[in-house]
Amino acid sequence: MSQIAPMWRASANPLDCSHPSERCVQRTVEGYLRSLGVEGKVGQMIQAEIANATPTEVGEYGLGSILNGGGSFPGGDKHASVDDWRALADAYHDAARGSARSHAVPLLWGTDAVHGHSNVYGATVFPHNIGLGAARDGDLMEAIAVATAREVAATGIDWTFAPTLAVVRDDRWGRTYEGYAEHPDVVVDYAPRVVAGLQGAAGEAGFLGEDRVLATAKHFLGEGHTTDGRDQGDVVCSEETLHDLHAGGHRAAVAAGVQTVMAAYNSWHGTKVHGHRYLLTDVLKGALGFDGFVVSDWDGFLQTAEDRAEACGRSVNAGVDMLMVGVEWRAAYHDLLQQVVDGTVPMERVDDAVRRILRVKARAGLFSCPRPSERSATEEGTGVGDASHRKLARQAVRRSLVLLKNNGVLPLRRDAKVLVAGDGADNIGKQCGGWTLTWQGTGNDNADFPNGTSLFDGFVQATAHHGGAVALSPNGEYAGENPDVAIVVFGEDPYAEGDGDRDHLSYSAVDPKPLAILRKLRERGVPTVSVFLTGRPMWVNPELNASDAFVVAWLPGTEGGGVADVLFRGPNGELAHDFHGRLSFSWPRHALHTPLNVGDTDYAPLFPYGYGLRYRDAADDGTGRLDESDTAVGRPARDSTRPTGSTYPR
Ligand code: GLC
Repeated sequence: MSQIAPMWRASANPLDCSHPSERCVQRTVEGYLRSLGVEGKVGQMIQAEIANATPTEVGEYGLGSILNGGGSFPGGDKHASVDDWRALADAYHDAARGSARSHAVPLLWGTDAVHGHSNVYGATVFPHNIGLGAARDGDLMEAIAVATAREVAATGIDWTFAPTLAVVRDDRWGRTYEGYAEHPDVVVDYAPRVVAGLQGAAGEAGFLGEDRVLATAKHFLGEGHTTDGRDQGDVVCSEETLHDLHAGGHRAAVAAGVQTVMAAYNSWHGTKVHGHRYLLTDVLKGALGFDGFVVSDWDGFLQTAEDRAEACGRSVNAGVDMLMVGVEWRAAYHDLLQQVVDGTVPMERVDDAVRRILRVKARAGLFSCPRPSERSATEEGTGVGDASHRKLARQAVRRSLVLLKNNGVLPLRRDAKVLVAGDGADNIGKQCGGWTLTWQGTGNDNADFPNGTSLFDGFVQATAHHGGAVALSPNGEYAGENPDVAIVVFGEDPYAEGDGDRDHLSYSAVDPKPLAILRKLRERGVPTVSVFLTGRPMWVNPELNASDAFVVAWLPGTEGGGVADVLFRGPNGELAHDFHGRLSFSWPRHALHTPLNVGDTDYAPLFPYGYGLRYRDAADDGTGRLDESDTAVGRPARDSTRPTGSTYPR
């Protein structure tokens, strides 16, 4: 073990061996470990994707886990029902429990329930993390995690690859919206709350009960600090910065009993984390005391060497315990088996990895619990899209909104004549963003969200029966008299991971249409309210100048009615909901103003970390006329080059 820098002080492990439940866990683990042959042990270390491994194959190879990646569904059907998900979970469960190779070790099914159970038709889709970071509300986070666990468990799935604990330092990164903040404070506050909401309180009754799921601290470590915000790029910060900025959330998650950690795609000083023994073994498992298991990211282990077999061995020897295999799971199985048989991967490393995997399965009660469809979480109704969850999601939307400008046009009266414009107004897919039904969040329309409400739907509901009128005109055109006010909803189209990497932060350089609509409405003397759907802070000075009010809604999810709740007064003209959100990401002064983070020596944002107006604040918010010279004009909106070893496109 390398000499570990003193800063990595150990975290308290809430499930140390003295805990009464651990003695039973230990007996189960050692008993099954002894029963497994080398093939059975290697099988436990392989996670295959449901589109590529049938239940029969899972049983034949004795695989330890399956996942459904973003956009993967039972039978490839985006509209698969809850019963379809449960039936498939039963099939994989039965295959594993009947496997001679794995000696009936139950398997784990992992999924990206990263803003609700967002792969599942009809599920409650909560705001993405960037909006939840603006809410600054740990209680809300835990409640969302509890609801998410219920919806995941209701489909027979055991494990979510969440929370993402990235501290995002460059907003050009395509995964900015998966982060809560640019500063560790919010991440450290939220991490244990989300882990406890998903798993239950470690060491207490109900921990990993049938309405709970395994959580994943991801991605370890440093992903939000890559050079130029390149996804899967290189991080060249010091070890002190890696610890002080990026490890706090993971440390808090370990102290809260998180049972899995996902390795990060990025490198640190040129070495891929998936092959970084110091970080994955000496720091995470040694110093921080993490005793669950480390899962690779999607084929992330392949980035550690040119040769596949060598890559498997290098990643496992560095500390990855389970290989998440995108497609070629048989190759990964045989590659790893060969590395074990020829001694490249020592048997004690294999036993340590399998012990960790079995320990997590035993803590989750999988050796004794019934088939997925017979568990209590799946008996009491579905839980998926439950009305109480949607109510919670609507509250989360309200608390995430950030008001950047208001010259007095807000709040709106319910008897107003409202024109609603912009391509985001009636587009639930756009308001949900990436990791929604499909991996990129694209290819979805409103019919794909049977329980969803668009922002426009919310405006209609707010004005109905109050003498108001709402007209939808995406291009902002109308006939006859001016409306009392125009709400223009615009923003980023959905994306995920590296597909969202950008070279600059100018919005109008990518999509000039909303600005043209705002300017035309202003020429006609119509007051304008901009509602911005975005996965990151962006340079929007022209749009701000053309707006009488500017609201950042981030990526609010399926409960679009939460926006109307705050923009409109109550039924009796009272102020129903004030703005609550405060920026957890600094707002740029120009299109190339990134990295930009609170604490920078030359910190000079347009709107600082923590900024957010309330209705009581002065109407003249002081933004005045902002500089509209776009420093990004002429630059490509997206950079097509990817770091070497990237796993894109899938
Ligand atoms: C992706 C992501 C990771 C996700 C995994 C499974 O590449 O990096 O966050 O959990 O694959 O979908």
